[in-house]
Amino acid sequence: MVNKTVKKTSDSTIISLDKNRLPRHIAIIMDGNGRWARSKGLVRTLGHENGVDALRRIATASAEIGIEYLTVYAFSTENWHRPKSEVKALMSILVRALRKELSTLLDNNIRLQAIGEIALLPNEIQKQLREVIQLTSEGDRMALTLALSYSSKEEILRATRLLAEDVQRGFLLPENITEEVFENYLYTRGMPHPDLLIRTSGEYRISNYLLWQLAYTELYFSPKLWPDFTKEDLYQAIAEYQKRERRFGLTSEQLNENT
Ligand code: FPP
Repeated sequence: MVNKTVKKTSDSTIISLDKNRLPRHIAIIMDGNGRWARSKGLVRTLGHENGVDALRRIATASAEIGIEYLTVYAFSTENWHRPKSEVKALMSILVRALRKELSTLLDNNIRLQAIGEIALLPNEIQKQLREVIQLTSEGDRMALTLALSYSSKEEILRATRLLAEDVQRGFLLPENITEEVFENYLYTRGMPHPDLLIRTSGEYRISNYLLWQLAYTELYFSPKLWPDFTKEDLYQAIAEYQKRERRFGLTSEQLNENT
């Protein structure tokens, strides 16, 4: 039983998780803030405010059960095209959350990281991000990575440009470009690929998120809107992940031979 952690959901369902088979890295597309607000007759920004509460819940629960990396889609490159007022509100929620949640991150030994075109964010956010990243850099329990102004296609193009520059300068030979070399040019350099991707709100899309990194990730779609997503929903997603057989292109028989 030492390897099992037993979690009880609000309806008293027991979820049993195998501690030895936890995903190392969970990626989340936090979708449904707007619909959550609309369903309650509230303005969309209140959906995002409640989305921050959900993120706090899920990040602390993840760290608590031993997840090493949690990477969340907080603002996509495409989100810049939303109405100006919503973009402004999201930026102000982000800057406030960074200030307010510093203590949550420190208390839980979580280090903050960011991926995406950070230079496109307002200066105030860049400054705040740098500060929180620096102040939490010793957090060795879990890395919480915010994908901000992030587009996976743009990340891959950027990596290709940087790589081409290194080839042009003679630092690298084209024949030496392997997957491992290419990955060193991605924002996620040094991080393991996500084992599990969770998308909330009943949408079944990847939406330009971690396209390279998700090649062999298990996908889990929840009908819950992000502000309603609870730690029990997280355990449920992990329990489902633990039932899957990850074959990485091999056969079941090959996998069983190797165990
Ligand atoms: C998707 O909901 C969510 C976003 C575009 C932003 C995600 C942001 C948060 C959870 C809060 C802010 C995050 C941080 C890190 C401070 P949607 O607006 O697309 O919802 P809809 O599809 O129902 O309209």
